[in-house]
Amino acid sequence: MIFETHAHYDDEAFDEDRDILLSSMRENGIEYIVNVGANLESTAAGLELAAKYPFVYAAAGVHPSETGTLDETGFARLKKLCALEKVVAVGEIGLDYYWDEPAHDVQKIWFARQLDLARELKKPVIIHSRDAAKDTFDIMTENKAGEIGGVVHCYSYSAEMALDFVKMGFYIGIGGVVTFKNGKKMKEVVEALPIERILLETDCPYLAPEPNRGKRNSSLNLPYIAQKIAEIKGLSYEEVIEITTKNAERMYQL
Ligand code: NI
Repeated sequence: MIFETHAHYDDEAFDEDRDILLSSMRENGIEYIVNVGANLESTAAGLELAAKYPFVYAAAGVHPSETGTLDETGFARLKKLCALEKVVAVGEIGLDYYWDEPAHDVQKIWFARQLDLARELKKPVIIHSRDAAKDTFDIMTENKAGEIGGVVHCYSYSAEMALDFVKMGFYIGIGGVVTFKNGKKMKEVVEALPIERILLETDCPYLAPEPNRGKRNSSLNLPYIAQKIAEIKGLSYEEVIEITTKNAERMYQL
């Protein structure tokens, strides 16, 4: 059974068929789903899904691109959400320098604060990092993120850097990009990583793997990602599923 470590089923892309889709997951081999928060509203929506479906868990956090609206009141609310039983991680949190806003300093402050929160609650973190490799690594090092643990999701940097994150004690989230024809860099990352450090994720509704690239993504596409990882690692499909599921259960403490 497959562990979906990163999905956004609260997204409006699922408004038409959310319940039908989620109800079909178990019969299609998806054992667990972690619905990841991008802000306070989506975190709350994810918690509603977690309340409705026993196999859905939630991560509570504010995405770097959403930190511009965060304040102490919002942070206090986030803290309460993070402490709930079905919240298995703080995330997604991190740095995104692809867009100019919010200012890098604002993103850094809330990244560090949310790392602290995870440490306090003894829950792992889900890191989102885009075009910000060095600052992400530095903030994680300064805040001793290795003691907290978690995953660098939708990983997009070099194989060398991936091994640095692993050395820090982190897992690496691999999604649809590894199946893309121009996904050479991701193949190198998967080659370099020990399979015991890889988590399967879709980041749906985004980043559907081949052969469904460009369409709305869902956890039902995870087998394509697992199959590609099996090819790259010279393992069987079943081995990839079994090991990555164990990895996710260990990380999320399930
Ligand atoms: Ni995400």
